[in-house]
Amino acid sequence: MKIIGTGSALPRKVVTNEDLTRFLDTSDEWIASRTGIRSRRVITDERLEDLATEAAEKALAEAGIAAADLDYILCSNIANYYVTPGLSCVVAGRIGAACPAVDINCACPGFLYAMDIAEAFFKTGRVRNVLIICAEEATRMLDWTDRSTCILFGDGAGAAVFAPGDNIKGVRMDCQPDVNTLYECRKLNHTPFLTKEEKDVPLQMNGREVFKFAVSTAVRDIESLLAEAGLTTDDIQYFMIHQANLRIIEAIRKRLGAPEEKFPSHVADHGNASSASCAILLDECNRKGLFKRGDKLIFSAFGAGLLSGAILMEW
Ligand code: UT7
Repeated sequence: MKIIGTGSALPRKVVTNEDLTRFLDTSDEWIASRTGIRSRRVITDERLEDLATEAAEKALAEAGIAAADLDYILCSNIANYYVTPGLSCVVAGRIGAACPAVDINCACPGFLYAMDIAEAFFKTGRVRNVLIICAEEATRMLDWTDRSTCILFGDGAGAAVFAPGDNIKGVRMDCQPDVNTLYECRKLNHTPFLTKEEKDVPLQMNGREVFKFAVSTAVRDIESLLAEAGLTTDDIQYFMIHQANLRIIEAIRKRLGAPEEKFPSHVADHGNASSASCAILLDECNRKGLFKRGDKLIFSAFGAGLLSGAILMEW
């Protein structure tokens, strides 16, 4: 498959590090030096499906196809107002599509997992146009009194339309099962029969463990894709790394020995928008005209699961 259109949408509200110091024991200096984040976009009166719909419509417009031409919609999402139906169905209705629509919950590498699934659909010959949407309201999953997590995240949506092509040159997806390092739990409705205790648990994270996992798996995944394709970092124009933390991106870059200009980043302005991060970054780079036909891009992402993935793609 190949990408024929991209789109993204962000909430209006900008929350700076300074804004956080009004209710948290933190500082712009601590957040900026440990994460590279200066501000993030946060949902206020918008609904996530509004952002997802806007991103999808922009991607369809660039692709030059109508929603009715879509054969499949994949939506990467952890949580939104609807428990059911899936966000993919909600957005399908909003954009006027009538094709199969399915949600996947793969946390931060969700865009890569969705691309891997879409590529498999293309290989069966059953689809001609696939829309992937990544939409996340990560700020709704947090304990806003926990300064070690709530400073990291932002909200947003990114989308891309795919058509038949031979542009995916390598895929590596992994799961290292470990629930306790990064998770959130939601209490479901009570029943007259329930005998177990349950509670809502906002996002819990062992930051140091996730940091180590992120750097080591990203370097391993990228190096294995390069080796498989017989390429070196010099052959890659851009490394599209999940925008979790600038220090993570920098550690990956240094271990790969590649120059800074090959690592586009928006984490300073957006924070970590989970699976939407890579999709939004893709749209921003595309709209800036950064990519030339034939450029080689490597996407790499990691997160809860613990899941990781990397994809080598030609533009
Ligand atoms: O998509 C994947 C999502 N997850 C991630 O990206 C997380 C990856 N991990 C990280 O980005 C880093 O581990 C953090 C940014 C979360 C934390 O950075 P760190 O350098 O690992 O700091 P730390 O957790 O070791 O904490 C150092 C100190 C602690 O104080 P003490 O115990 O040394 O007195 C924390 O209490 O910094 C304190 N601290 C803060 N201080 C000011 C933790 N959060 C804050 C804060 N402001 N927001």
